[in-house]
Amino acid sequence: MSRVYDMRDPAARSRGIAAAVAALRRGELVAMPTETVYGLAADAGNAMAVEGIFLAKARPRFNPLIVHVESRAAAAAIATFSVDAERLAERFWPGPLTLVLPRRPGAAIAKAATAGLDSVAVRVPDDENAQALLAAFSGPLVAPSANRSGRLSATTASAVSEDLGDTVAVILDAGPTAIGVESAIVGFAGGEPLLLRAGGLARAAIEAAIGRELGTPASDPAAPTAPGMLASHYAPAAALRLDVASVEPGEALLAFGPAIPPGAERAAAVVNLSEAGDLEEAAARLFSALRELDRGVKVIAVAPIPREGLGEAINDRLRHAAAPRS
Ligand code: TXA
Ligand code: MG
Repeated sequence: MSRVYDMRDPAARSRGIAAAVAALRRGELVAMPTETVYGLAADAGNAMAVEGIFLAKARPRFNPLIVHVESRAAAAAIATFSVDAERLAERFWPGPLTLVLPRRPGAAIAKAATAGLDSVAVRVPDDENAQALLAAFSGPLVAPSANRSGRLSATTASAVSEDLGDTVAVILDAGPTAIGVESAIVGFAGGEPLLLRAGGLARAAIEAAIGRELGTPASDPAAPTAPGMLASHYAPAAALRLDVASVEPGEALLAFGPAIPPGAERAAAVVNLSEAGDLEEAAARLFSALRELDRGVKVIAVAPIPREGLGEAINDRLRHAAAPRS
């Protein structure tokens, strides 16, 4: 049984951090709240613990993990920073931005964590509980999203335990996560900044900070082309139909904004991501809304959602969720 601690209760919070650190030192897995989604954390330097993450998530071994650290100084011990990377870290850390950088040869990170690559993805989370855990553990933690590989990400503690059950020793329950979509991932190819994954920090903010446009990678790193991996990710059990103009009988509806598509009155269930049409509110509710609608319906119809700001990340998640399953 996972031990769950309510991080909103001060007494439970300090016991939770102590229990989580003890579990991490034993090589066990901890559900760590962050500002984006819940992470499934393990000691980045412990190869057995890192192996435990791949097993618990049924994650393909070629998909590397993000290393979470307390500070830019801690990140600099693991990776080398270019001028642009330095500027982004200074501007946005702690925050929902992951940087893919050359890995320092001596970095105390298990090989499996970076899938044997000579690059490493690092981020400093902007969440008081994640920060407290990193400070108390005083070492880097790898943490993929705390869900089974390919499925909807977890933005609540109950979603973590539904998905991963007893494979998690300790769950730090801090309530729903604030941003609701994963960090934006920026990498550099021959010095060119690339947006590897749209996320909880909008493209325009990143571009403004470095005064350059972000390129798009030739192939989507979140959707490797190896057999069976396809583009499918963030997938509910139901199929998704995107950018719908109307709802078919029996479908569930994921709505956005004040305009409700025709046929909504016949929908099996309706959740509006943001009646006000606010993209930040919509991102925060995206994964829990999909979980809520994914109860026995065959199809979830999704209203059009603008692509600017966090809309780019929302549409990216929906596109993957709608992709054919292997
Ligand atoms: O917001 C987040 O980033 C959350 C929270 C828990 O921090 N974590 C997260 O981890 O989304 P995960 O494992 O679900 O997604 C990590 C992504 C994957 O698409 C992986 O391929 C990419 O980061 N990645 C990791 N290391 C990489 C590397 N060296 N080069 C390119 N992509 C990398
Ligand atoms: Mg994930």
